[in-house]
Amino acid sequence: MRLYINIDHVATVRQARLTDEPDPVRAAMLAELAGADGITVHLREDRRHIQDRDVRTLMETARTAVNLELAAVSEIVELACELAPLQATLVPERREEITTEGGLDLSSAARLRLVGATLDRLREARVRTSLFIDPYQKAVRAAAQLGVDAVELHTGEYANALGGSRDEQLLRLEAAAALGRDLGLAVHAGHGLTYENVTPVAALADLEELSIGHSVVSRAVLVGIERAVREMAELVRGARTH
Ligand code: PXP
Repeated sequence: MRLYINIDHVATVRQARLTDEPDPVRAAMLAELAGADGITVHLREDRRHIQDRDVRTLMETARTAVNLELAAVSEIVELACELAPLQATLVPERREEITTEGGLDLSSAARLRLVGATLDRLREARVRTSLFIDPYQKAVRAAAQLGVDAVELHTGEYANALGGSRDEQLLRLEAAAALGRDLGLAVHAGHGLTYENVTPVAALADLEELSIGHSVVSRAVLVGIERAVREMAELVRGARTH
């Protein structure tokens, strides 16, 4: 299991004062030193946290892999093709949302055409492609038909659920991951994962990558980013040995 650390919210603190600290790129370096397998950043169309400069600098300095999250918006897609990170994950975006609320809508021919054309453009630039989708069989099948390399299963509903309903959400994630693997996809997961809820997800055998941001950055404010990443990495890597 690879652990990608999402550093968007280091940039959120910086943008709160429109200054130059804390620098998310420095945070990325420390996260790598603490054992992150990769760094995730979401370059939003509204630039509310990560800025173009952050992605450019990260591309020059990262020693691990960069996963760029982006919406299927031509300005951002062209920048992704120019910078050519190892991986690009297409996500839905709405200006009024606090965070990514659901997986990509792959339910209509028009949506499939738009996502398919964006994937073609990213592939031309030799970028590995991933789609952020809800953990439903239909969405996994639609993603596979688009010829994508990977899917990232949205773990938000799992994270928000309590008790028995959390177990149901975990089973749904497990079934979607198994189908993805059967269809030849790499299967990732993320959103809303915390130190408290990550272990059952990290234990799912068909998942190979997790992307975790808010919980790690929140803990980093209190204990430092190296310790916060190390502690999350221990939970993620230990999950399958229990
Ligand atoms: N994966 C995707 C596609 C996301 O959009 C986000 C949030 O930016 C994450 C993972 C990380 O979510 P969180 O910050 O809740 O860990």
